[in-house]
Parts: sequence; structure tokens; C-alpha cells
Amino acid sequence: MKKGVFISIEGPDGSGKSTQIENIKKFFADRNMEVVFTREPGGTAIGERIREILLDKNCTEMDYMTEAMLYAASRAQHVAQVIKPALAAGKVVVCDRFVDSSIAYQGYGRYLGDSVRIINEYAVAGCMPDVTFLLKVDPDTGKGRIKSRVTSGQAEDRLDAEKTAFHQEVYNGYLALEIQYPQRILGIDASRSIEEIKAEICDKLEDILSHVTE
Ligand code: TYD
Repeated sequence: MKKGVFISIEGPDGSGKSTQIENIKKFFADRNMEVVFTREPGGTAIGERIREILLDKNCTEMDYMTEAMLYAASRAQHVAQVIKPALAAGKVVVCDRFVDSSIAYQGYGRYLGDSVRIINEYAVAGCMPDVTFLLKVDPDTGKGRIKSRVTSGQAEDRLDAEKTAFHQEVYNGYLALEIQYPQRILGIDASRSIEEIKAEICDKLEDILSHVTE
């Protein structure tokens, strides 16, 4: 059976993830490759409805475990409906955030610890990325980038608005994951210029594709 390639993109808020996803789209378009681009929370009709609840600034009373389970629920649907079928058809799937976000934001940021990994074992059902690009930017730099986004008119969501300590924990979570899964997670210094980051990601993508087509 053919097997596709599963790539996830991770990073704290303000890490420049969206810009690099656009660059990755261009990388594949230039090669005339059909790629499934998707995102979390969301990626399916059911997941997008869960996303609305999760990012709603009025949902201030949301319990942290509820939050973790909603992310996992959105993911379970996403894996079953989109990611697994695409990989089984031999496609490349690029996902904007996946399970590492839950470990970093809910496991570390919300101090829910290992329960988040356990819940997500059910959600991902064995479907883990082959490669994860982790855009690393410290919380101060990330926060500065979000502030400039907000002043230029983009709305801040419920998680953007969290306190500095939360974002520091999220960052610590990502650093711990990078150490724990060195084979899968490629940490990228995202404090550099867009072009430098893009070049590093493109080199790695070339490398991945050369292995797939071998
Ligand atoms: P989004 O608007 O997609 O932001 P970004 O461009 O930073 O990805 O919002 C997603 C938010 O949800 C973001 O703050 C990270 C958070 N999140 C979690 O807390 N846990 C998760 O499992 C996922 C997938 C996202």
C-alpha cells in the first residue's frame, strides 16, 4: 500500500507560522505537487465548529480539561476524515498545528501534564507526523509580533490574550518536545529573517522528497 508523507508545523503564537506555511505552499506549487493543506483546530466541518467554541473570547469559563478534550475531539475527526485517508492515498499532508500544540498549550501551559498525551493517543490513533517543523521564538518576541498584528487591525483570539507566564510554559513545552522527539521534530530558530527560515525549511523539504521518491 502507498503511504503519503505527513508534515506538521508548530510554534508558539507569533512565531511566523502562517508566513512559512505560505512559503511551503509555494514550494509544492512550484513542483506541481498536489498537497493537502489543513489546520487545527479545524480541518473538517465538525472541527471548524469546535474551533469556534475554542477561540471564542466570550468562553471565559471554559474548564482546562474541557479545552484539552475539545482540541482532541477536533483532532480525532480530522485524523479520521482527512489525514488518514489522504496518507492512505499516498498524498503529502501539511498540517498547521497537530498534537504537539496540545502537549505544549494544554499539557504545559495549562499544567494538565501527561493526561493530554494520553487523551491524544486516542485522538491520533497511531497517525503521527513524519516530520514536524517547530518554529522557535521566545515569548517576548512572539508577543511583540502579535501586538503589531493587533495594531494593524487583526483580532486577538482567546489564546493570544493569555498572560506571559502561560506563553512561557507553552514555549518550555515545545523545547521539551524537541528534546524528546529529535528524530521527528526539527527545531528552527524563528527569530531570524523570513528568508533564512524559508531556506532552512525548503532544504529539509527537498531532503524529505528525495527520500520519498527514491
Ligand atoms: P490560530 O488562530 O489557528 O492561531 P495560530 O495562527 O497561532 O495557529 O489559533 C489556534 C490557537 O489554538 C493557538 O493559540 C494555539 C491553540 N491550540 C491549542 O491550545 N491546542 C491545540 O491542540 C491546538 C491545535 C491549538
